[in-house]
Amino acid sequence: MKNPIDLNKVEKILANDPGGMLKALWNLPEQCEEALTIGRGVQVPPDYKAVSNIVITGLGGSAIGGDFLRLYVNDKLGIPVVVNRDYILPKFIDNKTLLFAVSYSGNTEETLSAYSQAREMGAKIIALTNGGKLRAMAEQDGAPVIVVPAGISPRAATGFLLIPTLAVLESLGLIADLTEEMNDLTATLRNLREQLDFSLPIQRNLAKQIAQRFFGKIPVIWAASGNTEVVATRWKGQINENAKAPAYWNVFPELNHNEIVGFEEPVELLEQLEIVILRDKDDHPRVQRRMDISQEIIKDVVSGVTEVWSSGEGRLSKLFSLAYIGDHVSVYLAAMYGIDPTPVKNIDFLKNKLAQG
Ligand code: PA5
Repeated sequence: MKNPIDLNKVEKILANDPGGMLKALWNLPEQCEEALTIGRGVQVPPDYKAVSNIVITGLGGSAIGGDFLRLYVNDKLGIPVVVNRDYILPKFIDNKTLLFAVSYSGNTEETLSAYSQAREMGAKIIALTNGGKLRAMAEQDGAPVIVVPAGISPRAATGFLLIPTLAVLESLGLIADLTEEMNDLTATLRNLREQLDFSLPIQRNLAKQIAQRFFGKIPVIWAASGNTEVVATRWKGQINENAKAPAYWNVFPELNHNEIVGFEEPVELLEQLEIVILRDKDDHPRVQRRMDISQEIIKDVVSGVTEVWSSGEGRLSKLFSLAYIGDHVSVYLAAMYGIDPTPVKNIDFLKNKLAQG
């Protein structure tokens, strides 16, 4: 393992990020505001209101917004919301399904396949993309297309890939006005970006501190089922894609019925695990208790345990604030490994090989 970059050396962090991942992170509050304007400007046919389920189909950075949507509307909508990350759509889809086909590039083959099936199944489709084949297909079919700006990685475009879908639900009257929620979200992110910025020294920057704990270790992210679970997935994905390192996740209470038992052997491997527990005061009280007791069980066996708490008042703020910390951690971890966070050459390799047949 190489010697890590010192995270107090600001110029080294920047030199390691030629694709501007940190800049994209800094711009997230403004991206969310722009995304709301884009979403509110979409002309959605009135019959799209008559739906009995919602499906979001996409992969990777284009799918995670679907999970945020699912959790956000969970206690607001009386209909199921399903996130599909596959070529094939579930059989229940019909003309009562509102389906968002989401692909930042517009060229992800699984999403294109799901889009074509959705057409055949008669779903009410909205495409959300920067362009590519998805935009062309949807325009040809006369389906509404939400076009978001290009120029960043899909995983840095979570605002663009989530908020327009919420704005559509708002304009259909399926969820309440988003203004207050969005104001809280952007204020929370603006506050947080000051605390996570690369210019701050390690001792005043939680994300740099966690990156240091993760360096040379295996990150394991634990969260609460049905609440912060989406953020645990996000931390894992961001560590994989930005830092090009492994990471794993699980959720309470399920992990208390299996994973928690596996902390006896092999001792040398367990010592390499660095655990983060994502916490939110809205978590079920018994889950919060389980998080406390689980720490007692593992703390002397693993490398370390860190609790990370959500901030803000609204649901979106709480989820995004936790995700935003993880996003920064992944970029600082990439810096420590001397890895450019932007390129994802293994994904590109796979896509190119698959395109050849
Ligand atoms: O973050 C990434 O680059 C990936 O996870 C992509 O989002 C994923 O490969 C799907 O591509 P797209 O978002 O263009 O549909």
